Amino acid sequence: MLDIRIEKTKTPKELPGAENPLKFGTIFTDHMFLMNYETGKGWHDARIEPYKPISLEPSAMVFHYGQEMFEGLKAYKAEDGRVLLFRPDKNIERANKTNRRICIPEIPEEDFLQALQAVVKIDEAWIPCKPGTSLYIRPFVIATDPFLGVRPSDTYLFMIILSPVGAYYPEGLNPVKIWIEDEYVRAVKGGIGEAKTGGNYVASLRSQVKAHEEGYSQVLWIDGVERKYIEEVGAMNIFFKINGTIVTPKLNGSILPGVTRDSVISLSKSWGLPVEERKISIDEIFEAHKNGSLEEVFGTGTAAVISPVGQLRWEDHIMKVQDGGIGEFSQKFYDTITGIQLGKLEDQFNWTIEVE
Ligand code: COI
Repeated sequence: MLDIRIEKTKTPKELPGAENPLKFGTIFTDHMFLMNYETGKGWHDARIEPYKPISLEPSAMVFHYGQEMFEGLKAYKAEDGRVLLFRPDKNIERANKTNRRICIPEIPEEDFLQALQAVVKIDEAWIPCKPGTSLYIRPFVIATDPFLGVRPSDTYLFMIILSPVGAYYPEGLNPVKIWIEDEYVRAVKGGIGEAKTGGNYVASLRSQVKAHEEGYSQVLWIDGVERKYIEEVGAMNIFFKINGTIVTPKLNGSILPGVTRDSVISLSKSWGLPVEERKISIDEIFEAHKNGSLEEVFGTGTAAVISPVGQLRWEDHIMKVQDGGIGEFSQKFYDTITGIQLGKLEDQFNWTIEVE
């Protein structure tokens, strides 16, 4: 059990008014969690402090070689007042998998969960209640040794910050337009593609800027070896409904194992809906669109939840899906997952954990 020292803010900020739409990731709550690591001493000095800037050496290793892990999960306020976390165990498991991949010491799972619960509890009043909103939780670890050589750091800082959010995309649940990237690649098997670390996201920026300039929200990556199989979108995993079957790329070492992705697969199975995790080529999607069997396309992610895709662009081909509208199953997955997250629907998989 962690001994968490708590210093409460003396100057609480004003809570965002319910009348303003919450832009993703722009507002931060009153408190944050911090814990340090040092080789030989382990994780220590767990504390909750007022949210404020932190001070680091300009030579801190994270600035130079990117040794950092981050996660994203959400807390919800149920109608009966309970505060619920959605599948935090999956995020904790993935965080430690990332940590192992990039040589950051693992964080004991029960300490991680306790830290999440403690900081969410303190800032419980910040959990927004309007439909489509939640409290986004961003745990992360950075390497802090002041050193310019390349090696794993001996010191780290683990932090958790909180942000009341609305939809990730300005489109909300309205379908987004996605550009299939044919020039750059995000990751290859054996690299860090399946780890949740900043390097994967910086690798995506050039393409994202290009896609934005063309009026597209994000890019869909294809594999870096054969350059023909679909991988994932920058901030979400991707699903297709082809001829009644839900298909998504198989986790192959270069794709992020998304928690919402896993939830959609479990729900599909429980509904008796055929679901396949396998290789999907661009040609297959192109063909399915041409012969009318591409019924729906949607992305899944903690931030994005379920994000219907209304248009895909591949080279000079534009593929409209569902006439640019929301598909029946995209809506059903969205309603079911958010219903469970908000404690409105039966949680048959025991996905939610109450913060007490
Ligand atoms: C999330 O969905 O939580 C993520 O970490 C994606 C991020 C790009 C917002």
